[in-house]
Amino acid sequence: MDSKEPGHIEARDQTDASLLAERDKTDAELAQREAAARADEDEVVEAARERAHEVLDTAREQADQELEAIGATPREQRRIVDMRADADDARDEERAAAEETLRIEREAHRRAVLALLRIEREATDEGLVIERARADQVIASRDDFLGMVSHDLRDILGTIALAASMLTQPTTTSASVDPATKLIGQRIQRGAARMNRLVGDLLDVVALEAGELQLTRGRHDAVRLMADAVESYMPSFLAKGVQLSTELAANAIVMDVDHDRILQVVANLLSNALKFTDPGGRVSLLVERQSTDVRFSVSDSGVGIAPEHATAIFERFGQIKRDPRGHGLGLYISKCIVEAHGGKIWVERSVEGGTAAHFTLPTASA
Ligand SMILES: Nc1ncnc2c1ncn2[C@@H]1O[C@H](COP(=O)(O)OP(=O)(O)OP(=O)(O)O)[C@@H](O)[C@H]1O
Ligand SMILES: [Mg+2]
Repeated sequence: MDSKEPGHIEARDQTDASLLAERDKTDAELAQREAAARADEDEVVEAARERAHEVLDTAREQADQELEAIGATPREQRRIVDMRADADDARDEERAAAEETLRIEREAHRRAVLALLRIEREATDEGLVIERARADQVIASRDDFLGMVSHDLRDILGTIALAASMLTQPTTTSASVDPATKLIGQRIQRGAARMNRLVGDLLDVVALEAGELQLTRGRHDAVRLMADAVESYMPSFLAKGVQLSTELAANAIVMDVDHDRILQVVANLLSNALKFTDPGGRVSLLVERQSTDVRFSVSDSGVGIAPEHATAIFERFGQIKRDPRGHGLGLYISKCIVEAHGGKIWVERSVEGGTAAHFTLPTASA
């Protein structure tokens, strides 16, 4: 798949998602490591306490035996028992105080780690926002420039096309046109038309990126629109030797759409079908009502599109392999136009093993 520039919004979403996933992972690892460290510390303290217990018990047993040997009085023995109870109480208190100190220290440590992590993450986020703002600025000024140049190019192309059309028509001084001159004039006209389309696509991309696609909606018949598109494309199909057939609904299907924009989508699909179908192949068109939608389909018997490319070809500059006959903009623009109208567009394998491109649009409410 040859895709020069994936949508930067998608790329940013991916970065954000992986950053969040990375942070979740760090948090989980940190919690796990801290829990393990605490368990280790607790185990050491517990072992030391058990050892101290054992030593104390042995010492007391020894003292008891010595007291018995020297024959201590019951009063002396009671005093010793009391002293031991006092010593045990004091030790328990000390332990409780030590445990509280440990708890406070651990909490302080945990907070310090979290604060450090937060500072580091805030710095990363800030860096990311600054970097993105800078990138947006660069893209915006590039798109502004592209927009300005495209408008100028259009004006110049208009002049060239006008001059070329004069070469193909008789002038007041000559009744006929020299055939060679006429051919050159027509070639210039075709070149100018192609350039005009490309400049139009670039202008559309700039408008789409800026979220400024203007729709001039009105009530239009889907069947009529498709018939118009067929009429203007028929000569190109005839010239290449690709059969073009239509299956259009008998009754009008009214939509509330920008007529020229939808015509542009149909033209993009038709030009793709023609481009990727060899002479002798077939292209068929279908327009039908489907409950509250109208569905347009352009099916060809051409080279086809493998399922793994069915999504990426709708991206900006997305071509399955580099094809100098186009720039990978037609389907991107078409998708934006269809979606701006609340419809869907997709491709699949056609019955004849080529490509079937479909798009739907809501029909106008009565
Ligand atoms: N009917 C089709 N059959 C086979 N491949 C297709 C068909 N339609 C589109 N593709 C593939 O999808 C790519 C993108 O199509 P898209 O219309 O966006 O761009 P393009 O035709 O290459 O250039 P542009 O439309 O800008 O002139 C094509 O380059 C081609 O690889
Ligand atoms: Mg195309």
